[in-house]
Amino acid sequence: MTSNPTSAEIKTIFNNIAPMYDQLNQWISLGQHHIWKQMTVKWCEASVGDRALDLCCGSGDLTTLLAKRVAPTGEAIGIDFAPSQLAIAKEKATLNNPKLPLKWVEGDVLNLPFESNYFDCATMGYGLRNVTDIAQSLKEIQRVLKKGAKGAILDFHRPKEIYLQAFQQWYFDRVVVPMAKKFNLTEEYAYLHPSIERFPTGEEQVKMAYNAGFSKAIHYPITGGMMGVLVVEK
Ligand SMILES: C[S@@+](CC[C@H](N)C(=O)[O-])C[C@H]1O[C@@H](n2cnc3c(N)ncnc32)[C@H](O)[C@@H]1O
Repeated sequence: MTSNPTSAEIKTIFNNIAPMYDQLNQWISLGQHHIWKQMTVKWCEASVGDRALDLCCGSGDLTTLLAKRVAPTGEAIGIDFAPSQLAIAKEKATLNNPKLPLKWVEGDVLNLPFESNYFDCATMGYGLRNVTDIAQSLKEIQRVLKKGAKGAILDFHRPKEIYLQAFQQWYFDRVVVPMAKKFNLTEEYAYLHPSIERFPTGEEQVKMAYNAGFSKAIHYPITGGMMGVLVVEK
């Protein structure tokens, strides 16, 4: 696989890693991803009765957090193009949260199967870095949100400080890659670091968000800039 995978290759990666995805996520982030996801849901201002969208939902963590906020009268929809990820999301929801207003849609976030001005809020966790066209993805989020609605987009970032860059590199080489190797997923995880390297910076993402038509955009660096949340408002 190249360091710049196609949409089909990305789908294959996420279908392949689906059974181990949650466990790997937990270990790689030392359990911190739950906190970052809670912050993301808070930043999109989801509230009771909202129709909420979680893009690139994967195994559904953010979708479930959204559903807890919009319940009982609202609805949270998770969309992803990898059926194996969606199968796990559905299974987890049926087992752990059968009463939550959750819906799962198999589809491409670059061409959302929803009408314009449809959602009251949106989240995207570790998805924007993985789509093949970031500008198009932001345009689609802007299109489906209602006027004044907010979206919060969480992802890895390359920190500005040299020592944090060195730490991030060390972490990938010494923690992420060996762990992926243990699960026989070396190839799948080898693309994680290059994807962070080429991911637009927070400042660049803010510009892209304005170009996509959002009226406000702010990027919040977290964990020393190794992570970040782009908050957009239509
Ligand atoms: C790193 S996972 C993130 C999953 C979840 N949001 C989380 O925070 O754990 C990225 C997800 O994006 C999905 N994805 C990537 N490109 C997509 C696209 N164009 N349309 C729909 N899903 C996409 C993948 O299938 C994968 O499940």
